[in-house]
Amino acid sequence: MKCYRAAILRFGSDGQALFEQDGLLAVGPDATGRHVVQAVGPFTALADHFEGVPIEHLNGRIIAPGFVDLHVHYPQIDVIGSPASGLLPWLENYTFPQEGRFADPVHCVQTAEFFLQELLRNGVTTALAFASSHPASVDALFAASAARGLRMVTGKVLQDRNSPDGVRDQTEQSLVDTESLIQRWHGKGRLGYAITPRFAPTSSEGQLRGAGELAARYPDVWIQSHVAENMDEIRWARELFPASRSYLAVYDDFGLMRARAVYAHCIHFDDEDRALMRATGAAAAVSPTSNLFLGSGFFDYAGADRVGFRYGLASDVGGGTSLSPFHTMLAAYYVGREGQTKAGLSLTPQHLWWQHTAGAAAALGLDGVVGNLQVGCEADFVVLNPRCTPLVERRTAAAASLDELLFAMIVLGDDRLVERTVIAGMS
Ligand code: GUN
Ligand code: ZN
Repeated sequence: MKCYRAAILRFGSDGQALFEQDGLLAVGPDATGRHVVQAVGPFTALADHFEGVPIEHLNGRIIAPGFVDLHVHYPQIDVIGSPASGLLPWLENYTFPQEGRFADPVHCVQTAEFFLQELLRNGVTTALAFASSHPASVDALFAASAARGLRMVTGKVLQDRNSPDGVRDQTEQSLVDTESLIQRWHGKGRLGYAITPRFAPTSSEGQLRGAGELAARYPDVWIQSHVAENMDEIRWARELFPASRSYLAVYDDFGLMRARAVYAHCIHFDDEDRALMRATGAAAAVSPTSNLFLGSGFFDYAGADRVGFRYGLASDVGGGTSLSPFHTMLAAYYVGREGQTKAGLSLTPQHLWWQHTAGAAAALGLDGVVGNLQVGCEADFVVLNPRCTPLVERRTAAAASLDELLFAMIVLGDDRLVERTVIAGMS
């Protein structure tokens, strides 16, 4: 058992932020040996209960839940900032060639290590990540995550058509590989597998059908893909699957929409698509830096809230421009303003922060497990230093409310704000 004394940010079940100016966080193993939050609250109320337990004083620091990145491509860490006129040329000219390098297992291991270092430096403690179409890329990320004790979900990309040599896989083999990766990794420690059709245009009907069958046979495995990101992509998907009501409905028609299914982008939806998301329990990964960089469009927050489906924030690196949750939250704020119809703030700082922590965890079906610091949550957290730069220090010191403090960090923050990232109570 160990205690920390600092300001502490966490979230109530309604998504409201709870903030202790002088808080205590007690962390220790539960009955099954997982390192979890044992107690959290005001220091003065709790300190007596933990007499004799070592305590670390983090003066002037803020402890907050580790961030959850709901959609990121680890093989694309070297693609960030590659300009293109839109999604499809970007995939063809930069992304597919880069992902082809993951045929080399040594490249997989080296990139997985670098990617995880970068995630942790930015305060991201859990991610739903695409690997590449090569099984070795999955092994590398899982092995590196296990070595660090990270809760990580990833999967081998399925893409058996409309893809160049080097990344294209074969229908039968891709499904055999997926199942053996599930059996090797899913549920081992903190690791989870995600069935990962890249997007409908690069999978044959046979591959999507096989993926749906695996999703039915392994109901606690995740599913991840892309949908309704870009107008050319949508036109292409509609041509390839004319029998489906919409692009999103393709996934439903192949049994790929259910709880634990996370679809990136979900920009160009109608209300029937939104209702399908809600009815199936699927969630959207909102990736504002990617959508702005590739010119894809603006996620319709008002539409999502009106119909009521789950969503959370994601970097979508390498279409996205940064792994920093602060950059992603700020971009989401800009996007929320674009579609603003109601008076007041479209997206409050508390709601932005929730979307990248407890909200993203809920979208993964991991509420109460990660993304929060309530009692029983796994003890993944960041230590933020609001004095990390002269401007951040000056602006946060002048904050007159919790909302002002959170906004100052969202707008001015980056990896310098993250002084330490603690995984499962250990750093
Ligand atoms: N659609 C299919 N593949 C990709 C990808 O790698 N990135 C993005 N942003 N969209 C995709
Ligand atoms: Zn993506």
